[in-house]
Amino acid sequence: MTMPSADQANSSEATKLVAAAKGETLTSPPIWLMRQAGRYLPEYRDVRSRSKNFLDFCYSPELAIEATLQPVTRFGMDAAILFSDILVIPDALGQTVQFEQGEGPVLHALRGDDDLARLNMDRLSEHLQPVYTALGGVREKLDPTRALIGFAGAPWTIATYMIEGRGSRDHALSRLWAYQHPERMDRLIDLLVEAVSRHLVAQLEAGADIVQIFDSWAGVLPDSLLEKLCIEPTARIVGRVREARPDALIIGFPRGIGDRYPAYQKATGVNVVGLDTSVSVRGLGKALQVNGPVQGNLDPIALLAGGDALEREVMAILEVLGHGPFIFNLGHGILKETPIPHVTRLVEIVRAWRG
Ligand code: CP3
Repeated sequence: MTMPSADQANSSEATKLVAAAKGETLTSPPIWLMRQAGRYLPEYRDVRSRSKNFLDFCYSPELAIEATLQPVTRFGMDAAILFSDILVIPDALGQTVQFEQGEGPVLHALRGDDDLARLNMDRLSEHLQPVYTALGGVREKLDPTRALIGFAGAPWTIATYMIEGRGSRDHALSRLWAYQHPERMDRLIDLLVEAVSRHLVAQLEAGADIVQIFDSWAGVLPDSLLEKLCIEPTARIVGRVREARPDALIIGFPRGIGDRYPAYQKATGVNVVGLDTSVSVRGLGKALQVNGPVQGNLDPIALLAGGDALEREVMAILEVLGHGPFIFNLGHGILKETPIPHVTRLVEIVRAWRG
């Protein structure tokens, strides 16, 4: 594993990621990648093959610890993100969740009020105990100069899977619920605010240095629904988490919300905003960074492409955002076809850069 850099010696924080999340500008920014533990790694495919069922894998602390540490060991990433999934929450609430080979998640879709009434918060923390055990185990094994990230889905993104029963492109059924059954939708979102808040607090208590809220499908919402289903619930989660842990560090990733990023940054109170690939770093990215740290936003396809295109895209981001508080990341999850040498090269470029 790599030695602490000069940056770390200059910062009072143990890890570059925490320093950046608190607003420090580092000479070279910390780097980690969304979905960094995944199928592009042969060592991941190897641990994955040891359990037939994806959720069993998530709930096996030994396997989850191993998968979490893999990208830090191989690439020297500045942070490990806990190996788990956003759909452990509906599973813990009692909804049937399965991962079908080659098809992604399949849930027993919520149909109406009766299904909603059957969701049960009582067994949440007990059900998710293996996740917290895994976090504690990673904490023990992780180099202290590396940060540990916990995470959860945002209520809207989790709700889309619960309502649609699977991944979908436009989330029409979920939006239809929001318009036709606003009270039912509010009840579901309220339940998820509670579950996500508890899950994040428990992860911070188990040893996470920082947590990220993934709102992967926020971008399909028009303004009124964005406020009601994304921004406001996220603000409530941030408030709830800080009630329990006043110093909690939180990254918000509202993918695809475009010119509504400033409203999200201001109203939610997250410490760091995660920029998706479509955000202009020169425009919106730079404007957001005036108010706080930002994270992102390399196109995962540029990482897949490698070569000169990768060098150019990485430099273009560093030159604009690298002079302020910044965490280097992709603009969405790494693709399973990504060649490993491209990731090694990416980490080299970011490490060599001096702001
Ligand atoms: O980032 C990491 O390395 C930590 C682990 C992590 C996973 N899922 C593991 C996983 C994280 C942070 C997630 C988040 C997640 N899960 C999101 C939000 C981020 C995003 O990508 O927008 C969403 C929407 C999900 C739901 C989910 N889980 C889907 C849609 C799928 C199937 C798609 C796919 O890539 O296969 C999953 C399965 C999943 N979660 C895999 C991994 C590594 C692949 C399954 C496997 O290995 O068999």
